[in-house]
Amino acid sequence: MTLIATSEKSQDGVRRISLLGATGSIGRSTVDLIRRNRERFEVVALTANRNATALAALAREFEAEFAVVADPGAYSALHDCLADTAIETASGQEALNEAATIEADLIVAGIVGAAGLDSTLAAVRQGTLVALANKESLVCAGDLLLAEIERSGSRLLPLDSEHNAIFQVFENENAADVARLVLTASGGPFRTWSLADMAKATPDQAVAHPNWDMGRKVSVDSATMMNKGLELIEAAYLFPVAAADIDVLVHPQSVVHSMVAYVDGSVLAQLGPPDMRVPIAHALAWPARMQSGVAQLDLAAIGTLDFKTPDDVRFPAVRIARDALTEGKGATVILNAANEIAVEGFLCGRIGFLEIAAIVQNVLEQVQGFEITSLEDFRSLDYESRRITKTLVKTAS
Ligand SMILES: NC(=O)c1ccc[n+]([C@@H]2O[C@H](COP(=O)([O-])OP(=O)(O)OC[C@H]3O[C@@H](n4cnc5c(N)ncnc54)[C@H](OP(=O)(O)O)[C@@H]3O)[C@@H](O)[C@H]2O)c1
Repeated sequence: MTLIATSEKSQDGVRRISLLGATGSIGRSTVDLIRRNRERFEVVALTANRNATALAALAREFEAEFAVVADPGAYSALHDCLADTAIETASGQEALNEAATIEADLIVAGIVGAAGLDSTLAAVRQGTLVALANKESLVCAGDLLLAEIERSGSRLLPLDSEHNAIFQVFENENAADVARLVLTASGGPFRTWSLADMAKATPDQAVAHPNWDMGRKVSVDSATMMNKGLELIEAAYLFPVAAADIDVLVHPQSVVHSMVAYVDGSVLAQLGPPDMRVPIAHALAWPARMQSGVAQLDLAAIGTLDFKTPDDVRFPAVRIARDALTEGKGATVILNAANEIAVEGFLCGRIGFLEIAAIVQNVLEQVQGFEITSLEDFRSLDYESRRITKTLVKTAS
């Protein structure tokens, strides 16, 4: 079964949009696109975690109806900033879910981590079209989301550049003739580093991505290549292709964003500059197109496009994620929780770079998984996995 949108008709008029995670990297790219295409969009709800000042400025600029901070500690700042407006303000998880379910044509799910799951699920239950950047929702609760989409008629438009690329070249009418999906990966900032150098890598080096400007967590995921592991899981939910038929190729130029290989030997790829505004513009305007402000691709200037299979020794995360997907029984929940805590531990200087993947592997071996059939199942396995990971991070050398 495919979760992605297949037959939405072009909509006339203004598209009402709610933006979850408005102050983040995905949020800022989305805001830039809305500014450039002001006549096409109306902003309904905006959310952030703690950045009340930036959120309030956006809410004021776009005359949003509702602004929400997840962290109740940031509420008074948000309220004070918007006290002279008619914009409703709130805080907490329930308010986030409300922002995701207030009537809109499209929800952009741009929160980072499993923290985005509840609001993504709320939007999907409502039957709304969801432009999904928050891959962790699918990694943690793909089956639940799939069941809710089936029930509500909601649809997902992938925002991750790789999945958006596949979405653009995946022939739904010939789905049975798809032989393989190929997810491309930049290889991150440590693509050519030795293991010895990677062991000494600092957080600043890990977040300095050569091609993409992203939030800190996804930048570290990109450096370990866990991002590609999470994307492999995401792709297995989004497209009707078996996990064993999804490959990963390192492509340092980040120009070919992913590919679909058909049984006749044809390979269809989507190309574009490494700028998230391209896939986000595709989703915001879908099924039409719109200006993104991104310069046209200059292939002659780029000259060469390279492709290599990933190095499993220096970057074991892709294999670890693939194994978790094959294992089932909640293993991808354990993987995600362990990764979020280990990345945080690395960013705070508590563990070394190579320990991220090692700890994730260790947690997968220690925690007993089970089938996730409800949000409560997810919460309990997520909690236990985080608890064990925190202990490992604390006791790491
Ligand atoms: N950045 C990219 O280019 C890119 C590309 C592909 C996919 N993605 C995916 O998109 C998602 C967002 O990534 P990002 O790079 O945009 O992250 P980011 O820059 O860190 O932004 C995260 C957003 O989520 C909010 N947030 C953080 N923790 C939250 C919580 N506990 N509850 C509610 N809101 C919370 C943040 O609010 P504050 O500002 O208040 O902290 C911010 O608005 C991730 O799943 C990532 O894997 C990102």
